[in-house]
Amino acid sequence: MTAQDTNFAEETLDPADWAKARALAHRMVDDAIDHLGGVRDRPLWQAMPAAVRASFSGPLPQGPQPLEQVYSEITTSLMPHPMGNIHPRFWIWYMGAGNFTGALGDFLAAIDGANLGVGNTATSQVDQQVTDWIRGMIGFPDGASGTLVNSGSMANIIGLMTARNAMAGVDLRQEGMDAMPQPLRFYASDQVHSCHCKAMNVLGLGKKALCKVPSGDAFRMDTGKLKAMIQVDRAGGFRPACVIATAGTTNTGSIDDLPAIADLRAQEGLWMHVDGCIGALIAIAPDHRHLVAGIDRADSLALDLHKGLQAPFDVGCALVRDRRQHRQTFAEDAEHLRKRSRGIAAAEFLHDYNLDTSRGFRALKIWMMIKEHGVAKFGRLIDQGIAQAKYLDGLIGDEVMLELMAPTVIDIVCFRYNPGGLDEGTLRDLKIEIMLRLQETGVAAVSDTTIHGRHSLRAAICNHRTRRADLNLLVAEVVRTGELAAGASIKRSFGITE
Ligand SMILES: Cc1ncc(COP(=O)(O)O)c(C=O)c1O
Repeated sequence: MTAQDTNFAEETLDPADWAKARALAHRMVDDAIDHLGGVRDRPLWQAMPAAVRASFSGPLPQGPQPLEQVYSEITTSLMPHPMGNIHPRFWIWYMGAGNFTGALGDFLAAIDGANLGVGNTATSQVDQQVTDWIRGMIGFPDGASGTLVNSGSMANIIGLMTARNAMAGVDLRQEGMDAMPQPLRFYASDQVHSCHCKAMNVLGLGKKALCKVPSGDAFRMDTGKLKAMIQVDRAGGFRPACVIATAGTTNTGSIDDLPAIADLRAQEGLWMHVDGCIGALIAIAPDHRHLVAGIDRADSLALDLHKGLQAPFDVGCALVRDRRQHRQTFAEDAEHLRKRSRGIAAAEFLHDYNLDTSRGFRALKIWMMIKEHGVAKFGRLIDQGIAQAKYLDGLIGDEVMLELMAPTVIDIVCFRYNPGGLDEGTLRDLKIEIMLRLQETGVAAVSDTTIHGRHSLRAAICNHRTRRADLNLLVAEVVRTGELAAGASIKRSFGITE
């Protein structure tokens, strides 16, 4: 082979036959539309037969197979066994239900192929525009910075890492933890999401640095106790650094007293981070935005667009009031990633604001969804979810066998089946049995949790496909299943076999 010889076999991943690829891609889009359009008519979830499960443990394919065949495996084995979160009666975890435009956005983002970590590109402009829209939605000031990340957990890490570095009392990035003059203390209510424990681990502070402040009857942080804990820690040689307020707790949807925490933050000279993964976007919901008044006073904030905006997974966002502090926490200088005055590298580098260097084009789906529907519709959908939760709360109040377990503040409802006369342990088993039967029959998905020591079922209605009739069905099915399961458990407790 000579240097001029171009006549040898080189490979590419492009289709050998674009016309065939086009036909298959069109079929996939048609199937996708049928799949989404018919979601209500299918069970929410179904157990996977052993053969299907086994089909995912074959050996590493060494040779090729037609894409049609690969796709057929997806339609027969994968698509019939989803998590169920696109179904109208999925309320088990607080997740969004996705949407078609967002899915198209993910497809087009992959076709564009950009890596948004660096680059003077239109994709980077879209990302920055989306981040700035979100900043405006929350009411953070002009010039505040933000970054799109994969999840709310990561968005919290970005905010808390900025807080840690800003409050450490030393150039932590350079000197490391050993140089810190005092151990830091972070505060959050006992209802805080577990991702903050992961964050303490990642931040090198350890879980003991996260002090849990008791929550009161309404599951909100007791700010009087917070103040007392700060004083005790200060006297004990610790440096109170950051209070994490939750806007929308995972268990009950309670919203910490944001204005009071913001006042305390100012008096005590702390950093205020808000975990708004569930509730921050209530700021755009006209009927309920008063619930999150004061959220714009935070120093940093985490939110989830795959929840509040119903974007397909995964996309979260961190906002930081002080852009300089945000950038200082993450930006590094590497020659191969140096900004230039012209060409592809002549732009703000988005990777200077988070931990990733490479990152996908998550912004496109959000950009398309907001342009298509307008932000007002997303606000109305959040109001709709909260109104549906209040409706469910009313249905539960009217049903003698059911009991509310926590105040319904946003779109999360905690309740239990209680036919009376059963001890707490039997009741707990019964509720778990109801929950599992509802899942296994594919009718509806709710979860269970323990709040202030009381076991409860929980419906999290972060779902734009839910209708009130679905909630009527939930109540009817919980009661019906409860009666069946209670009958069986009472027989069992008397040793009667069926
Ligand atoms: C209050 C709260 N914070 C953080 C998270 C973590 O978000 P993600 O699952 O996007 O990492 C959740 C998840 O539901 C949450 O409810």
